[in-house]
Amino acid sequence: MKRIPAAPLWLSAVTLLSLTAATRPGPVRGAEPTPLYQDATQPVEARVDDLIGRLTLEEKISLLHADSKFTTAAIPRLGIPRRWLSDGPHGVREDVGPDTWSNAGHTDDFSTAMPAGICLAATWNPELGFSEGSAIGQEARLRGKDIMLGPGVNILRTPLCGRNFEYLGEDPLLSGTMAAGYVRGAQAQDIASCVKHFALNDQEYERDSINVEVDERTLREIYLPAFQTVVQSGGVWTVMGAYNQFRGQHCCHNDYLLNTILKGEWGFQGLVMSDWAGVHDTKEAVLNGLDLEMGTERKYDTFYLAKPYRDGLQTGEFGLAGLDEKVRRNLRVMIATHVLDAQRKPGSLNTAAHQAVARHVVEEGIVLLKNAGHILPLDLAKLQSIAVIGENATRLHAHGGDSSGIKAFYEITPLEGIVKRAGSKVNVVYSEGYRKGGDATLAERAVAAAKSAEVVIYFGGLNHDKGFDCEGADRKDLQLPYGQDELLEKIVAANPRTIVVLEGTMVEMGAWLEPVPALLQAWYPGMEGGSALAGVLFGDVNPSGKLPATFPKKLSDSPAHTFGPEAYPGVKGPNASNGTVTYAEGLLVGYRWFDTKNVAPLFPFGFGLSYTTFAYSQLKLVPTETGVTAEFTIKNTGSVAGAEVAQLYVHPEKPGVLRPEKELKGFKKVWLQPGEQKTVTLSLTPQAFAFYSPEQKSWVAQSGAYQILLGGSSRDLPLQAEYQLARTQLLK
Ligand code: GLC
Repeated sequence: MKRIPAAPLWLSAVTLLSLTAATRPGPVRGAEPTPLYQDATQPVEARVDDLIGRLTLEEKISLLHADSKFTTAAIPRLGIPRRWLSDGPHGVREDVGPDTWSNAGHTDDFSTAMPAGICLAATWNPELGFSEGSAIGQEARLRGKDIMLGPGVNILRTPLCGRNFEYLGEDPLLSGTMAAGYVRGAQAQDIASCVKHFALNDQEYERDSINVEVDERTLREIYLPAFQTVVQSGGVWTVMGAYNQFRGQHCCHNDYLLNTILKGEWGFQGLVMSDWAGVHDTKEAVLNGLDLEMGTERKYDTFYLAKPYRDGLQTGEFGLAGLDEKVRRNLRVMIATHVLDAQRKPGSLNTAAHQAVARHVVEEGIVLLKNAGHILPLDLAKLQSIAVIGENATRLHAHGGDSSGIKAFYEITPLEGIVKRAGSKVNVVYSEGYRKGGDATLAERAVAAAKSAEVVIYFGGLNHDKGFDCEGADRKDLQLPYGQDELLEKIVAANPRTIVVLEGTMVEMGAWLEPVPALLQAWYPGMEGGSALAGVLFGDVNPSGKLPATFPKKLSDSPAHTFGPEAYPGVKGPNASNGTVTYAEGLLVGYRWFDTKNVAPLFPFGFGLSYTTFAYSQLKLVPTETGVTAEFTIKNTGSVAGAEVAQLYVHPEKPGVLRPEKELKGFKKVWLQPGEQKTVTLSLTPQAFAFYSPEQKSWVAQSGAYQILLGGSSRDLPLQAEYQLARTQLLK
């Protein structure tokens, strides 16, 4: 059901009437037959051409900018409805006011709250990405949305970035592959996805103005590939420009990023929209590849692509061809997603299938980081009492984080999940343990509860308060807040059988880590989080998640924090109007840094334990027409079924240029019964061996020897074989 929010005062009655009439696309009333542009049997480009020929200049301009916070204007006489955009990557956001960020107070805008993006990445399962995208696409259709503003694929360059929870980690191959699956799933439901924020929006600090300086190789090899994968193999229909500047030009109208690379080199055929109020210049907006200006809290006709653009067209400053190109891209997305014809999928909301997807993503995204003495899974048949401690055992997270927050139909907390799964035979005691602002008695009571129970399950970590995992600000440090380190030391001293579950993104871990026998990373687990956590803790689910980002021992071990304030959070020159951040670490982001500089992480990229064990054997390199296939065997050598993420890394033996120690170039998740083994293949093309040469403006697969490494973590690669790339190739 589409909703027209209470109209802002400046909307004329006439507009209101036309808006109302225009929300039902379909054949234009009158004598003429269904026009070609509404005929779903016709080719998209023919329909675009037909429609573009019918639009007036005013109507064309109206398609290029918002007419409320999350909509663009209808064109009733042609049956073009209002377009509705909605956040975000974790589900369909609640309706917000037409021109404010406050919610609209509706009671029918609940949605399925999926786990945070970083949890989806931790599954390393692109099929799950597809399922999640598909569920969100169905809910978007039911809620009357046309463009869903996600996924976000900005690279985790600094652990401090407030939006790391929303994105897909530190590696471009993992991020791009997971996001492409999500986009294919969503867009199969006749809505458009929007990959964001293009590009280099890797911190929230001064996000609206900061200028990012990065060398060309790093740009091409680290910060663009995830976007390129989503465009070229995900087929994403829209791209959102980032707030920040890149090499001195705002990303929402950056000629090099949008015209040269995105539309020129990659052949992107959809539309580029701005982030909200991310546009700063009419001429750049007109000439540098922007197709839709979004924003709020301003009269929409003053938007750069509204009156200023119209004036420039009338004076001849801007050409009509450029206008038609922008309109063409908007119409192409509408027509490709069946906005204008009756073929559009109806959608559904909060179905059992959607709930199951939410649960499967977190079940497969939880990462088991420690399990000394196999204390996990807990055997409920032998347990009498459990102390559940920590504010995050009862805290709701789905609605937080700012634009990615979801008004969930429900949210099962960890405590609820445990109580429900443990049943009446086990005495479950809860103690809050810590709270914002602190309270000594909480800690005392928690320690007492720990002492009196057989086992402790502690839920801590971060939350979506500003300054932790939240849009609009970065974290100040990697510390566990609210005195949790001290509390945990007391708890594990009181009861050595303490299992720690951390929610949120990575933190430095105190002295408690050594004596704690078990540690799980649960990220933000979404509306089914409590059920999934109970399933893992009590053994219904065998954890299979792997870290999508390196967990450093301390912040100063991280590459972005090794080169001073210029490298993060950026510095402002004496006369500069904005700061500049320089990515001094270059290619060496995440594990690329830790492995090349030989810095021991707390937990490495790609790491995650299971309740079973896996053995790798028999690696063979089989030459193919397009490159080489690694063929190997994985066996489940334990006593329970489980899934392993086999990871393939490439290490250049004698590179002619600086190359990271190794880079992820393939992965596959494999399910195995106890004792079962499978032969797995991962195929590589010359691209897997290539680096980008700015001098040659091309990728170069340099001939020579490469180690192909295989295993279950970036630091556990038992299979290795040498591959000779016979000849150097320049790749497109
Ligand atoms: C925000 C975010 C973007 C979001 C948009 C609309 O500022 O940067 O991710 O989709 O505005 O809420």
